[in-house]
Amino acid sequence: MTPEQIQENDARWVLGTYARQPLHFARGEGAWLWDLEGKRYLDLTSGIAVNALGHADPAVVAAIHEQASKLIHASNLYYTELHSRMASILCQRAGMDKAFFCNSGTEANEGAIKFLRKFWFEQGSAWRHEIVSFTDSFHGRTFGALAATGQDKLQAGFGPMLGGFVRAELTPESLLESIGAHTAGVILEPILAEGGVMEPSPEFVKTLLELKAKHGFLLICDEILTGLGRTGDWFGFSHLGLTPDLITLAKPLGGGLPLGAVLMKQAIADTLKPGDHGTTFGGNPVAVAAGLAVLDRLARPGFFDGVKSVAQRLREGLAALSGIGPFGELRGRGMLIGIQVSCDPGKIIAAARDEGLIVYRAGANVLRLLPPLVLTEDQADLAIVGLRKVAAKI
Ligand SMILES: Cc1ncc(COP(=O)(O)O)c(C=O)c1O
Repeated sequence: MTPEQIQENDARWVLGTYARQPLHFARGEGAWLWDLEGKRYLDLTSGIAVNALGHADPAVVAAIHEQASKLIHASNLYYTELHSRMASILCQRAGMDKAFFCNSGTEANEGAIKFLRKFWFEQGSAWRHEIVSFTDSFHGRTFGALAATGQDKLQAGFGPMLGGFVRAELTPESLLESIGAHTAGVILEPILAEGGVMEPSPEFVKTLLELKAKHGFLLICDEILTGLGRTGDWFGFSHLGLTPDLITLAKPLGGGLPLGAVLMKQAIADTLKPGDHGTTFGGNPVAVAAGLAVLDRLARPGFFDGVKSVAQRLREGLAALSGIGPFGELRGRGMLIGIQVSCDPGKIIAAARDEGLIVYRAGANVLRLLPPLVLTEDQADLAIVGLRKVAAKI
């Protein structure tokens, strides 16, 4: 099919819940993507933070081939060695005790919400069910995760929302108002990624920790986007000095295949027994095999140093663009980059596309860059040169 035919067919048959860009990618390699006509683009979004090792990483491809030729699916009714290997790696890296595997970010958050509720139920405190989340947060599209998501525009038209969620601002004052002895848990992204690449302030973190010590609620860190290297470390919470009770993961976890996980402390795991939760495809062996190849790379000595060094170079170059055209303040950490812009980010996305750069947005006035963790220095320089041209043009 020609690109035009694909677009026509899509418009006729596929539900229009995505404002697709006029791009038809045929293949990728590392940080590069090629469209059907052979034009090359530098991918600074990694499939929205999924392709941590870039496209067609040989180790990920080999793991998928090998596992697919042995066993694609058996069921969670049976043991697989892969599961226990991945669970042990993730739990040990995160300081957690047990892992539950699922298929996506929203499903991981659904699991975390259920596990948290079950924990309080088993303590004889079922009344303690209220979960605090934050304005501009994003936790997913299914009902629990959507209720936790702090964005009216995403909830509009789907009400009533699931009960038991309270929305707070990302400020110490709002925390003090919203949290009490009745609070069951708090769900927090270490950096609010969709919500404009906003990191909580040290005062916010201090108040959160004080309230946690006082009231003993459980902390869920949604590391779906920040986790597994994006911030230059295994997890985003470590930069903030937080100690979560539950961690949700997805995006890069399956090496590009659908895979999510909930990591938890033993006390929470102890309240869950066979039959309490489940999912047919969760922890699919091919996705776990691909994900193990990703985890293996992240664990290589010096890998995160390399990520941090290229991220630093990219950030310095982008910071120098501040004040040129619509470009303003730089935000985020590591390879999670937000640039405040004074125009519709859509305009910049289109102009960047013409320059062969794939970038993305976060909210109404932030341009978001989520490059693969394997971006090279030369590629970072190309991104800066291209975005400088875009900034000057607009
Ligand atoms: C922080 C965060 N949580 C949850 C989700 C939902 O993940 P999924 O789209 O895999 O359901 C996302 C997706 O963008 C996310 O960024």
